[in-house]
Amino acid sequence: MSSASQPQPILLANYTVPSYLVLKTDLTFDLHDDQTRVTALLTLQRNPQAVTDVDSLVLHGSELELESIALDDRVLTAAEYQVDGESLTLTGLPSQLTLRIVTRIKPHLNTSLEGLYQSRGLYCTQCEAEGFRKITYYPDRPDVMSEFTTRITADRQRYPVLLSNGNLVEQGELDGGRHFAVWHDPFKKPAYLFALVAGDLSFIENHFVTRSGRDVTLRIYVEAKDLDKCDHAMDSLKNSMHWDEEVYGREYDLDIFMIVAVDDFNMGAMENKGLNIFNTSCVLAKPETTTDVGFQRVEAVVAHEYFHNWSGNRVTCRDWFQLSLKEGFTVYRDAEFSADMGSRTVKRIEDVALLRTLQFAEDGGPMAHAVRPASYIEISNFYTLTIYEKGAELVRMLATLLGPEKFREGSDLYFDRHDGQAVTTDDFVQAMADVSGRDLGQFKRWYSQAGTPRIEVSDHYDEDALEYSLTFRQSCPPTPENTNKQPFHIPVKTGLLGTAGDLPLRLKDHPVDTETSDNTSIVLELTEAEQTFVFQQVHEKPVPSVLRGFSAPVKLHYSWQREDLITLMSRDSDGFNRWEASQQLALRVLHDLMQEASLATVSAATEEAIAALIDALQSVVQDETLDPAMVAYMLTLPTEAYISELATVIDVDAIHQARQYLQGRIAHALKSAFVSIYQRYDHQQAYRADARGIADRSLKNTALHYLSLLDDESWIETCYEQYRAASNMTDAMAALTRLVNTDNPLAATLAENALDNFYQRWQQEPLVVNQWFSVQAGCNLPDTLAQVKKLQKHPAFDSRNPNKIRALIGVFCNNNAVNFHRLDEQQQGQGYRFLADEIIRLNKQNPQIAARLLTPLTKWRKYDETRQQLMKAELQRILQEELSRDVYEVVSKSLA
Ligand code: ARG
Ligand code: ZN
Repeated sequence: MSSASQPQPILLANYTVPSYLVLKTDLTFDLHDDQTRVTALLTLQRNPQAVTDVDSLVLHGSELELESIALDDRVLTAAEYQVDGESLTLTGLPSQLTLRIVTRIKPHLNTSLEGLYQSRGLYCTQCEAEGFRKITYYPDRPDVMSEFTTRITADRQRYPVLLSNGNLVEQGELDGGRHFAVWHDPFKKPAYLFALVAGDLSFIENHFVTRSGRDVTLRIYVEAKDLDKCDHAMDSLKNSMHWDEEVYGREYDLDIFMIVAVDDFNMGAMENKGLNIFNTSCVLAKPETTTDVGFQRVEAVVAHEYFHNWSGNRVTCRDWFQLSLKEGFTVYRDAEFSADMGSRTVKRIEDVALLRTLQFAEDGGPMAHAVRPASYIEISNFYTLTIYEKGAELVRMLATLLGPEKFREGSDLYFDRHDGQAVTTDDFVQAMADVSGRDLGQFKRWYSQAGTPRIEVSDHYDEDALEYSLTFRQSCPPTPENTNKQPFHIPVKTGLLGTAGDLPLRLKDHPVDTETSDNTSIVLELTEAEQTFVFQQVHEKPVPSVLRGFSAPVKLHYSWQREDLITLMSRDSDGFNRWEASQQLALRVLHDLMQEASLATVSAATEEAIAALIDALQSVVQDETLDPAMVAYMLTLPTEAYISELATVIDVDAIHQARQYLQGRIAHALKSAFVSIYQRYDHQQAYRADARGIADRSLKNTALHYLSLLDDESWIETCYEQYRAASNMTDAMAALTRLVNTDNPLAATLAENALDNFYQRWQQEPLVVNQWFSVQAGCNLPDTLAQVKKLQKHPAFDSRNPNKIRALIGVFCNNNAVNFHRLDEQQQGQGYRFLADEIIRLNKQNPQIAARLLTPLTKWRKYDETRQQLMKAELQRILQEELSRDVYEVVSKSLA
């Protein structure tokens, strides 16, 4: 690619207000097999806020065939406007005008799944962030908000259902077997929230009466074969509507709320006003086909999209640099909702594990960016863990700093002040500052500085003065756009453990907070590079419990004694920190093991560490006060991905071997405990996707996992038995995963039987077939790459469907490190080559998916020299191609 044609970055600093406002947008879609004709009638008015008296207007447009454009009913000649591949510019415009623009598009050829496209014969849209410009010429930017009316015409037989945003105002028959529907959305919205659906769909219907008495019709549209999998999504929707009224005082505002499930979708789901379009994987669930994780994902995504109606739609983003304004806040809201529906501590552990593994890796890599980035080349690349998950952590920290009442006041003020507006993350923080009277100026650095802060903690106990002091030093490593970081404002929730449990806290020079009845936890606020806090009247040397509930997205370092970790594990009042101590303890042992020359005989010191860990885990198993889900998580060793994130140089094989070895040792040592967990589980009990049911299955399947590692074929048979007898997908998959990953001839035979049986049974269910692809792609045994390549040719694989790509290729490259990074002679670098080939293919077909799939190659700097060279060579090979903006941005930044 020549440098002149290289895509250029867009800068936050260059933001200007739109020159024209679009008061009304009237769209007509004539859907025909060979093309769709789109007529857009726009009523425009010069923006009184525009800085200069501009009379020009830039409309975005891409891959459009322009039929005509008329200004105030006069058709323009080609000389009266300029068109290039991305825009149409008009100049010399009056202050009030109408434009009538007719374009033709080809949804059946649209493989990017942006704009209007087809999925299994259904017409659907995905407009966020900049897909609307693939439908018609339009000021496709979130700060242009308009009132939309949409008329759709299509063949009545094949497309009986015609949907768009808002309320249905008219429908009827047309000549030639066609029909039409007109939808009107009374709420002004940016084009990215536009949606259209046309197809042969069935629905389930329910109702919700809002607290002010509005009766809302709730519909979930799916293919007829999927009607039996909608109940969980419907329950989740009703729970979300109720929760948002209770917790945020937010009511729904239209007469109907619709969800449509589509099989080909780039992301999870989309919050289009009144017409949410979902990936089938985030709507459909029933016990026989869906795992517990799947059920939880449906609940979370339904809630997330529903909550966007306020945090995103009623109040939207001024520009795409503000994406986390809606995403971070909405993820925080859905996480709190899930916490209230299930177990708060367990939900927190799951979210933190994701954040620390994947977001921290992103924040430490070449694509690191601030929660409010300052520049981007392709905005689709910024739907990241940083924008979503770290963004949610920022909102959580604000809630921690303000306390629940002030935080709610702040959110009320934010919604009230900005209803109907497109605003910035600064506006959000300002509302929080205004209600609390707090200065949040320094806090805002969290939005502008990328990177994961590191906190070093040291302590000192003065037994004469009965004073205990904690010293915190914060720093933040450089990231691509920012090398010199200013200190962050960090809330560190802290407690002190004595022999009898939590100690009462008396912080020197700090008035006792009378509002909080419990004085065993305090939020210490770090604002300087180094700070010391002194606790008084401390009668014994305590064990510090810092960063309770993971109160800030940081890497905390403190040299706990092994005994301290065991104390925290067994006695901390903070459930999160109990789990965290178990992980720290296990990590130490894993690191010791990785230092060993051979795992055949390990040093006495390492043996002692193993014994201490096993002892501690034994107590966990016996602790009857613990939630079984907590026991399962405490028994589970840190993942290879998390160990890799913590490593300076990732030794793929050593990590895998150490972890396998330690699992084997735990299995042997705690065998009888695992047997009794497995046996006392009631295998006949009815499936319930609630916290208790999920927790019980999770513990039982953790036990089975360990048992399957024993050199005892009866447990392999038990796995097969569980697979065959399972009445739910969670148990079936847990057992199948063990069979597939066990290196033993019996297991291999049983795995093959089970995989065949599985496919025969579920071949009509795409989402289940995806799980079948994933379990095989994730197999740690050698030869998996060959198997993956074979599966790509399987009739059930569809190289255009994002869910299939993620299930097979994504899982192999992201969740199967030993195979993706193989260095042995025959397979050296083959994983990298395989991925690069896929990216080159997808670059043209679906740039968003291509760019996302690149992630594992972008991490090349964390590997040994040999792997680095091989990975880099593949990135360079990709760079030789004619690249989409999406792929170009990721490849060029990761090589920079
Ligand atoms: N706003 C959607 C959500 O978070 C995601 C849309 C993603 N779209 C995209 N092109 N990356 O629910
Ligand atoms: Zn979202």
